[in-house]
Amino acid sequence: MSAFPHLLAPLELGFVTLRNRVLMGSMHTGLEETGDWGRVARFYAERAEGEAGLIVTGGMAPNARGAVVPGAAGLFSPADIAGHRRVTAAVHAAGGRIAMQILHAGRYALAPGCVAPSAVRAPISPHVPVALDEAGIEAELDDFATAAARAREAGYDGVEVMGSEGYLLSQFLVSRTNRRTDSWGGSFENRMRFAVEAVRRVRESVGSDFILIFRISLADLVPEGASWEETARLARAVEAAGATLLNTGIGWHESRVPTIATSVPRGAFAWLTARLAGEIRVPVIASNRINTPEAAEAILASGGAAMVSLARPWLADARFVAKARAGRARQIAPCIACNQACLDHTFSGRLTSCLVNPGACHEAELELRPVRRARRIAVAGAGPAGLAAALTLAERGHEVTLFEAADRIGGQLQLARRIPGKEEFDGLIDWYLEMLRWRRVRQRLGRVATAAELAGYEAVVVATGVTPRRPAIPVEPGAAVVSYAEVLSGQAPAGPRVAVVGAGGIGFDVAEFLVHDGPSPALDPALWAAEWGVGDPALHRGGLASEGARPVPPARAVTLMQRRSEKPGRGLGKTTGWIHRARLRAKGVRMLAGVSYERITPEGVWILRDGAPLLVPVDTVVLCAGQEPRAGLARELAALPAPPEVHVVGGAASAEGLDAKRAIDEGTRLGARI
Ligand SMILES: Cc1cc2nc3c(=O)[nH]c(=O)nc-3n(C[C@H](O)[C@H](O)[C@H](O)COP(=O)(O)O)c2cc1C
Ligand code: SF4
Repeated sequence: MSAFPHLLAPLELGFVTLRNRVLMGSMHTGLEETGDWGRVARFYAERAEGEAGLIVTGGMAPNARGAVVPGAAGLFSPADIAGHRRVTAAVHAAGGRIAMQILHAGRYALAPGCVAPSAVRAPISPHVPVALDEAGIEAELDDFATAAARAREAGYDGVEVMGSEGYLLSQFLVSRTNRRTDSWGGSFENRMRFAVEAVRRVRESVGSDFILIFRISLADLVPEGASWEETARLARAVEAAGATLLNTGIGWHESRVPTIATSVPRGAFAWLTARLAGEIRVPVIASNRINTPEAAEAILASGGAAMVSLARPWLADARFVAKARAGRARQIAPCIACNQACLDHTFSGRLTSCLVNPGACHEAELELRPVRRARRIAVAGAGPAGLAAALTLAERGHEVTLFEAADRIGGQLQLARRIPGKEEFDGLIDWYLEMLRWRRVRQRLGRVATAAELAGYEAVVVATGVTPRRPAIPVEPGAAVVSYAEVLSGQAPAGPRVAVVGAGGIGFDVAEFLVHDGPSPALDPALWAAEWGVGDPALHRGGLASEGARPVPPARAVTLMQRRSEKPGRGLGKTTGWIHRARLRAKGVRMLAGVSYERITPEGVWILRDGAPLLVPVDTVVLCAGQEPRAGLARELAALPAPPEVHVVGGAASAEGLDAKRAIDEGTRLGARI
């Protein structure tokens, strides 16, 4: 019997049967905006081949006003249908089913003239929306119905009406954004009218044998958000108006509580879906941070949801269900919820991809072709760049030997996994281990490969990574100065008062590591909820605890410093930087910008701030002041009398802007080329 009987069970919807319980959640990838519908079709068809039970497209606006950014794809006119038809045909040919999400951004549309129930500006937008009048509301509702009819014409199996995350429907639902006094505002009956009417008109326009999903917000996580009673009422009303399935969403975009980041516990909100399931008859779908078949199976087996939505995990691995069904669950590339190549890209206008799988949304460009002749290739260094290169080369058929100086693979991933809230890196290292075995990559761990022994290979990939940079700050005898690598690996202890020199990504991670003690909130949902002030929406409107956030006191007093005068943490991830800044603020971390370092003494760090000398009294100083390429091996190989073909990749090539995303991307691309 399969290890995932609930996940693999078909779901009967009356007029159609879904082949399993896994929905590929909606993601606006930017692919549609390339205008290359063949590329969009291939992206979705590969996920259909990977046995997604039902795919939901990224949000498509029903009209230009509702587009998240000007020029975003939609289904505004009959002319748009042809492109969508290529997608549905490809998905159906691959044995899958696909629904189109209709998303009207309302006041989140980043354009002047955006519309909303009331003229209340979103804190994340510069534009004050125009309040819709009665005729405007009617026109918007008609456009929902028209878009749905066009979706049916384009061959979709259904539509999802986006009713959460703070977009137009959410804006009607709560008094935070709906200040109207007419029949579309005031009482909850009136506030929910727009959402219910949208569902009713969509159902009317598509007929009864078409999937209609309503994505409902279970916790808005903003002040004046919905109460649970209102959410339950809305659920019953949209069910009565014709919804086939209720998908769930958590948090508005403007919420100050993380909802999908890696520090959010797996399945953190599934308990709310279970409660919703008790309110209605149609199947409900659990969403957010469900990234393994085991986690999905547990939610389904508990009866708390009829389906699970996995969005980013389908970027990390297009064959998620196929591998789970074939007993190869350990080979599913894990989504580590970093957002680095997906949401960060989407929000900065770049094409979505995936840190773990750079081929996501680049399917044609990064096609791995089997090699005509297998070559003997050595990869020196089993950090992210070396691992990605070794696996890609082996997958294409080369004979690969991987050398690593440490006694285990991972390189800097081994340091990242020690940061509280980054435990998902464990899964990534486990996956690499499993895949090296599966692809029969020979591992030579615990020894430094010399140029002489590598000379016998046909090609050598130098992926020896980086060493921490030691900045030129005078250090007096007796001062405790250590590198980030020494602290994170446990080689060097830190005292009760610590200065972190350098406030880049590593500096923030080290500060998080140092203020933390006890269980990681990412592994303890109750602790996580207390730290972020998340409460039960049945007791606290919007799911924000009335007592506010209750962070655990810091384990150490930490001062984080940087030379640059800009706000510390500006260079962190677009969609996650605020989370790291908020965490450190909550832990009382002192952040100093525009600092020049004078000297480090046993008393602490002497700095100049605004021209005046200042002592930051600490017991330990941790250096996070950048990295240098470890390029010695490449030089030694080049100096050999008959050097092999040498490729240098990742941090060994350049330490500038190095992170796991760049390292894996470079390793994969090199592996696809040799
Ligand atoms: C790149 C990206 C784009 C997204 N675009 C949409 C969207 O257009 N509509 C929507 O309802 N949700 C969107 N989401 C949210 C996902 O549907 C999902 O709720 C979220 O990623 C959490 O689920 P996961 O942990 O399974 O990824 C997007 C998420 C990502 C990462
Ligand atoms: S980039 Fe990170 S969060 Fe996004 S899909 Fe890949 S692993 Fe998941």
